[in-house]
Amino acid sequence: MANIFYGLLEDLGAAPQGSIVLLHACAHNPTGVDPTLEQWEQIRKLMRSKGLMPFFDSAYQGFASGSLDTDAKPIRMFVADGGELLVAQSYAKNMGLYGERVGALSIVCKAADVAGRVESQLKLVIRPMYSNPPIHGASIVAVILRDRNLFNEWTLELKAMADRIISMRKQLFEALRARGTPGDWTHIIKQIGMFTFTGLNPAQVSYMTKEYHIYMTSDGRISMAGLSSKTVPHLADAIHAVVTKAL
Ligand SMILES: Cc1ncc(COP(=O)(O)O)c(C=O)c1O
Repeated sequence: MANIFYGLLEDLGAAPQGSIVLLHACAHNPTGVDPTLEQWEQIRKLMRSKGLMPFFDSAYQGFASGSLDTDAKPIRMFVADGGELLVAQSYAKNMGLYGERVGALSIVCKAADVAGRVESQLKLVIRPMYSNPPIHGASIVAVILRDRNLFNEWTLELKAMADRIISMRKQLFEALRARGTPGDWTHIIKQIGMFTFTGLNPAQVSYMTKEYHIYMTSDGRISMAGLSSKTVPHLADAIHAVVTKAL
């Protein structure tokens, strides 16, 4: 991560002033690799000093650590410094509303007159694009966010989902270790959130699909949320077979 991180800082440092930088707030998709809070602080300082505009994509709040507040920390660091930023939030995963298209765009401006101008520009974009957002999913979210009991219940369920994903990581890691599968698989337990970049190549992925009926993106990304204790052994068998086959 250290080398990758310095590469990231180098690229940010070389970006032209005024660039908009898309940042994944937590549980980075597809890598599952998040900066530490210290690294976020370095990113923040560099971006502010270079006049780069942060645009956060937050699709997994609560899935990384199990806590909404912990996962929001990187965004709040940028809000706290008084600078401008954009945040696109999705409730598709953390509220289980994938089919409802629920999300929010928040824009933090330094001054009220800027906010007014940004809002009128947004309306110009929205009107010809979708005019009115679908209301059903948003109403569900609003009901949950406004009711303390429902909100608390939701945070408990989120934590249970996050913990289950972490336990799937451990089970898969242990299953590969038990089989003596060649390679270092510690990234499975180190990565954060829903996804694991397994490191399997496209030929290996296609072999697993053909021979084991295991389906993943060809870059080797798997969704840990799609695994259960029952299916971990089958996946571990397939990974073991494909890794020892030298494809
Ligand atoms: C980082 C990230 N942002 C946004 C989305 C999409 O969110 P939505 O389904 O609410 O459009 C996804 C995945 O679906 C994602 O991984």
